[in-house]
Amino acid sequence: MLLTGLHSAELKLILFGGKGGVGKTVCASATAMELASRQSTMLISTDPAHSVSDCLEQPIGYRLQAVKKVANLKAIEISADEAFMAFKHKYQAELMKFFDTSTNLDNEDIGQIMNLTIPGIDEIMSFKTIIDLIEEGNFDKYVVDTAPTGHVLRLLSSPRLLDEWIKMAAQMRWKYRYMIKSFSGHYQADETDNLLLDLKKTVKRIEGLLKDKNRCEFIVVCTPESMVIQETSRLLANLKKSQITVRQIIVNHVMESNGSAFCVQRRKKQEKYLNQLYKTYSGQHNLVEVPEFAEEIKGLGPLNNFRNALF
Ligand SMILES: Nc1ncnc2c1ncn2[C@@H]1O[C@H](COP(=O)(O)OP(=O)(O)OP(=O)(O)O)[C@@H](O)[C@H]1O
Ligand SMILES: [Mg+2]
Repeated sequence: MLLTGLHSAELKLILFGGKGGVGKTVCASATAMELASRQSTMLISTDPAHSVSDCLEQPIGYRLQAVKKVANLKAIEISADEAFMAFKHKYQAELMKFFDTSTNLDNEDIGQIMNLTIPGIDEIMSFKTIIDLIEEGNFDKYVVDTAPTGHVLRLLSSPRLLDEWIKMAAQMRWKYRYMIKSFSGHYQADETDNLLLDLKKTVKRIEGLLKDKNRCEFIVVCTPESMVIQETSRLLANLKKSQITVRQIIVNHVMESNGSAFCVQRRKKQEKYLNQLYKTYSGQHNLVEVPEFAEEIKGLGPLNNFRNALF
């Protein structure tokens, strides 16, 4: 089978995830190239190890760049740390005021708290960057290369974590409002309330998009190996719990069944796991096999060959 349905006009966001080293970056890059052949496409990396530059063999970095020699394709490598620093910088005054009015902490303690992070906030900021880019509406498709499973699960649970933080913050704020109202008779919402409201809206926007199967698709990448299959199963269970649709699974690095004795032997080992994958997933998912290539998938030429195996 090949990948299907990604050209659909309504589909905006396509995320690639899976265990470390299975081929997420290559799959995301090749898919972005395919989509760019028909629609304007942005390739986004949220992996702190950013290997999109290496894969495309051209420097990308934190600013949106046109990918050379691929029309309609731009790429960006998001830094969660930078996005969080920018957030703190932008909302420094509001955050200080929040802690000042909602706690008994002195300025030194508040300064220390400001240096700690709000749980999940850096991942949320990566997501916020993505959602802002999508809402700017300059591209038809947004293809995201994520970091290995652990990180992507944190990324996916970040809206819920932040939501809990907002709830706690809002409760503290409510006590403050109550106090002000008791003393002065009225309370006027200020920048700190607006910040909490903004964060709440961001969480809602992210969750709304991720759970919308017409606008968002998560493609799981795996290989026919025992440990990869175990991790894939956990990832799929977590995605299901988060109500994120997985229509297709890419099975990468599949050996040819004929060829050298070495290839045949490796293929034999893979056979058991391939059968297991088909038995478990072919009912609900489209399984897309990609062969093991003789050379590393680096640069536009090899990426085009890889793309032909996907589409
Ligand atoms: N089908 C394939 N045939 C040959 N080489 C491949 C194939 N798929 C991927 N590779 C190579 O395997 C390596 C890992 O691929 P890639 O970087 O896409 O994995 P990843 O899942 O993004 O890794 P990480 O978890 O570290 O981000 C790369 O060197 C890539 O060129
Ligand atoms: Mg990668």
